[in-house]
Amino acid sequence: MKVELVPGVFWVGAIDWNIRDFHGYLTEAGSTYNAYLIVDDKITLIDTVKKEFVPEMMARIQEIAAPEDINYIVSNHVEMDHSGGLAETVHRVKPEKIFCSPRGRADLLRHFKETWPFEEVKTGSELSLGRRNLTFLETPMLHWPDSMMTYLKEEQVLFSSDAFGAHFASSRRFDDELPELPEGYSYQLKKYYANILMPMGTLISQLLKKVVELGLEFKMIAPDHGLIYRNPQPVLSAYQKWAAGTTEPKGLVIYDTMWHSTEMLAHAFVEGLIEGGAVAQLHHLRSTHYSNIVTEVLDAGLLLIGSPTLNNNMFPSVAEFLTYLKGLKPKNKAAMGFGSYGWSGQAVGLINKELEAMQLRLVHEGFQVKYIPDPEELAAAKALGAALAKEHLKR
Ligand SMILES: Cc1cc2nc3c(=O)[nH]c(=O)nc-3n(C[C@H](O)[C@H](O)[C@H](O)COP(=O)(O)O)c2cc1C
Ligand SMILES: [Fe+2]
Ligand SMILES: [Fe+2]
Repeated sequence: MKVELVPGVFWVGAIDWNIRDFHGYLTEAGSTYNAYLIVDDKITLIDTVKKEFVPEMMARIQEIAAPEDINYIVSNHVEMDHSGGLAETVHRVKPEKIFCSPRGRADLLRHFKETWPFEEVKTGSELSLGRRNLTFLETPMLHWPDSMMTYLKEEQVLFSSDAFGAHFASSRRFDDELPELPEGYSYQLKKYYANILMPMGTLISQLLKKVVELGLEFKMIAPDHGLIYRNPQPVLSAYQKWAAGTTEPKGLVIYDTMWHSTEMLAHAFVEGLIEGGAVAQLHHLRSTHYSNIVTEVLDAGLLLIGSPTLNNNMFPSVAEFLTYLKGLKPKNKAAMGFGSYGWSGQAVGLINKELEAMQLRLVHEGFQVKYIPDPEELAAAKALGAALAKEHLKR
């Protein structure tokens, strides 16, 4: 079945129903790799798909035009989920030109070691396809150095590459095919932002501001993963909010434990946060995947990170989580380490050092107990949780 965005513009991507691990990110809802075909005097393919999905993309193209008749390919992004199929596609299509950013050209060369007929485009470059015109917009580091977007002027369709995407396999291609977004879609949109785009909040705010200044109108946003937005306003507003680092009165207690002492403290902190009027969540690091936890971190105002001391160190899953979190450059959060120890007790200090390195607001020197917490220590943890909620998670 052909999927037409606007007359002559088609979705020709692939649906990856089974993927659950996307470079370490838990994709419990699968994904899609969206590619688009514009039928004009110059038939143009925007992006490709993951290598193993080329047959699916070719079959969809075949319903619309012979792949050999494609004249141009636009490569918005070098990453292999969008360019993995490029080699086979180029071999089959023999395009006149492949349009990409200057950095895209260099990096496609590093990936494929092939000198294809590249043509570099920059922000504002225009390309006539016949009746329609494309304008290119470089978006370096959103989220790779080569990243760019492509705008179909006449129809006001933005092919936004990874921005506004979500890992979500579904039989639906558009946001408005039912009155409501599919269940779980909004979560996957947020999860994608948290795991892929959180470090680029400032760049995204600048881009959204520029869009308003230039008076750019989007009738449709067509990202490279997930649904195509015929109503782009909600996703634009969500991005605005996330990019600004807006937080909710929500506290997260994230921990691991060997003999449950740190866990006892974790529960006491959660009780305290609730008593202090906050929304609280408890996440055990070997029960909830770190990509799901950072989704909750995105709009949380307070992070309490717990670890026992193991061999003079923090527990490995806590170190793993903090390493992942640090790379995502979380903003506007209060934070503190806590934990149980037996003799040397380094974990909490090490956690706090990491939190400080992330430039989070350290709200306490850290809460530590020797071996198993007693009722007074648990009461103190609860009281501290309540106090932190009142002070740092105001409604
Ligand atoms: C293999 C192992 C190594 C440990 N290494 C240290 C250590 O280097 N320094 C320390 O203070 N405690 C160390 N401990 C003690 C634990 O930190 C202590 O038992 C703590 O109460 C465990 O908290 P949990 O119940 O949350 O796992 C170690 C415990 C185990 C099992
Ligand atoms: Fe990407
Ligand atoms: Fe992608």
